[in-house]
Amino acid sequence: MRLVSLVLFLTFTLLPFTAGHIQLGLSEGRSREQKVWVREGSSAVLPCHLSPRKMRESSKQLPDKISVLWKRHGGSVHQEPHVVLEVGYSGLQKTALLMKPRVSLQEPALRNGNFSLRIVPVRSEDVGLYEAQVKYKTEVHSCHVELGVITVTLFPPNPVMENELLLMSCNSSHQASLVETCWFHSEHPGRTSRTFCSLSGTLSILHPAMSDAGSWRCQLRYSDKEIVSATFNLQILGFDGPTSPVVYAAAGSAADLPCSLSYLPSAFGMSVVAAHWSHLAGGHLQDWGISQNLSSRSFPLHLPVVGPGDAGQYRCTVSVGHRTISRDVTLAVVTVTPSIQGPVSEGNHLLLICSLTHSQGHEHFQWKHLDPAPTKSKLAVATSHNLEGHSSQMGPTLEIPQVSQKDTGTWECSVYGPEGRLGAVEYDLQITGAQVSSAPSVLSGQITFGLTLTIFFLLAVCVVALALQKRAQAPAFPALEGMFAVNVPWKPMEENQKGKMQQTEC
Ligand SMILES: *[C@@H]1O[C@H](CO)[C@@H](O)[C@H](O)[C@H]1NC(C)=O
Ligand SMILES: *[C@@H]1O[C@H](CO)[C@@H](O)[C@H](O)[C@H]1NC(C)=O
Ligand SMILES: *[C@@H]1O[C@H](CO)[C@@H](O)[C@H](O)[C@H]1NC(C)=O
Repeated sequence: MRLVSLVLFLTFTLLPFTAGHIQLGLSEGRSREQKVWVREGSSAVLPCHLSPRKMRESSKQLPDKISVLWKRHGGSVHQEPHVVLEVGYSGLQKTALLMKPRVSLQEPALRNGNFSLRIVPVRSEDVGLYEAQVKYKTEVHSCHVELGVITVTLFPPNPVMENELLLMSCNSSHQASLVETCWFHSEHPGRTSRTFCSLSGTLSILHPAMSDAGSWRCQLRYSDKEIVSATFNLQILGFDGPTSPVVYAAAGSAADLPCSLSYLPSAFGMSVVAAHWSHLAGGHLQDWGISQNLSSRSFPLHLPVVGPGDAGQYRCTVSVGHRTISRDVTLAVVTVTPSIQGPVSEGNHLLLICSLTHSQGHEHFQWKHLDPAPTKSKLAVATSHNLEGHSSQMGPTLEIPQVSQKDTGTWECSVYGPEGRLGAVEYDLQITGAQVSSAPSVLSGQITFGLTLTIFFLLAVCVVALALQKRAQAPAFPALEGMFAVNVPWKPMEENQKGKMQQTEC
């Protein structure tokens, strides 16, 4: 077998020499044989161009009349040399039926001395020795290019599903015996690349994760010291974002649990059959219907109001094609528990305890007193001076040794993780009790002010109405008005009038 291939190889290598000798009468130029390795499915360029010296001799541009003939020797299907592509002097192009839509020459490049043959996409049966014969004027230029194909096989084929056993293998058309296969994974720049080498050549990934996606290179080393390699992009259909996402939500607020596929399944000719959420609470499985648009790749779960009972593990299961992938999402609910249940009075000793239902262990808490001023952004006005005198500003417990009026308003407990602020919960502290009426607070002061304003406004309306009524009566009984002014003491009359007015007008 090896002998046969050696004979074949010699035949093919010697063939051009023989051809060259036959054409010795013409001024002949031939480039040395080149070997091109490409991955099956990618594009190949079989190079063939005139040297710069040749181009200078041809005064920069070649004549219009050029003929290019690309032939192929060998290959599994055709043992006879056969025409791959031919461009005649007339410019007419002929292509072998088998390779027709896949092979091309860059026509404008021909007269610049570039006769390279492009094959897109390359198939494993395209392997073989290719020869170009270019004729112009009395010149003949020939090129010999050997095309080798590397095949990367994925099982199951694209798309690879997250967590589903993946086998990757690599072979090539090289005839020598394989010594070693190495796999290189270079993810995002900056991240460490990984290398796996083995004799068998097949790389198996038990549970492919999203981090396994990206650029891979397989390298084959043969007994004759030949080393060939091919790169490919591994796409994994899984979920965006972290492997075990945790969503932090304040008790009483809404929460959105993410579930977004890394690719639109239609990009692989697949469709989403179903997506559903379940809550793994209390051992039993609670199903959530999903009415999202299934041609999308995002299936978030919206919980309008969450309580501590909603916390826990949720699972988003998406059926793509006939396969199913799922992602667990943890909902952690942040709550505030005050040490005093019911009304808080001035002077009380108060503890506000911030707690997290599902702590990952790395969270820390921070308490802030938010300025009640509605015009300013809440976070920006988090007043640190209000925290003076409070022992626990950091940590889950806020201690107020003696509640005073300045402590009223909104307290915010923020949860921080290594990646920043994760969530927050607010607690509204209102002070009630007898002290409020005796010593009006800022808030009750505001209420009193509003009440006074309302009474004053009503009074003003009545006075104006009274005045108008008086003016309306004036022209008819000017004397009577005077009499009233003189005889009747004004105060009782005013009160009397006012009472009437309030009955009728107010
Ligand atoms: C010749 O043309 C091919 C495309 O057909 C191109 O890839 C290659 O770079 C060109 N070579 C030169 C030397 O311009
Ligand atoms: C590589 O192996 C695959 C099957 O595993 C086969 O179809 C292909 O022809 C082989 N490629 C070469 C270049 O031998
Ligand atoms: C689903 O979403 C796609 C685009 O994301 C849109 O074109 C299509 O009309 C939507 N279908 C329904 C039923 O909403």
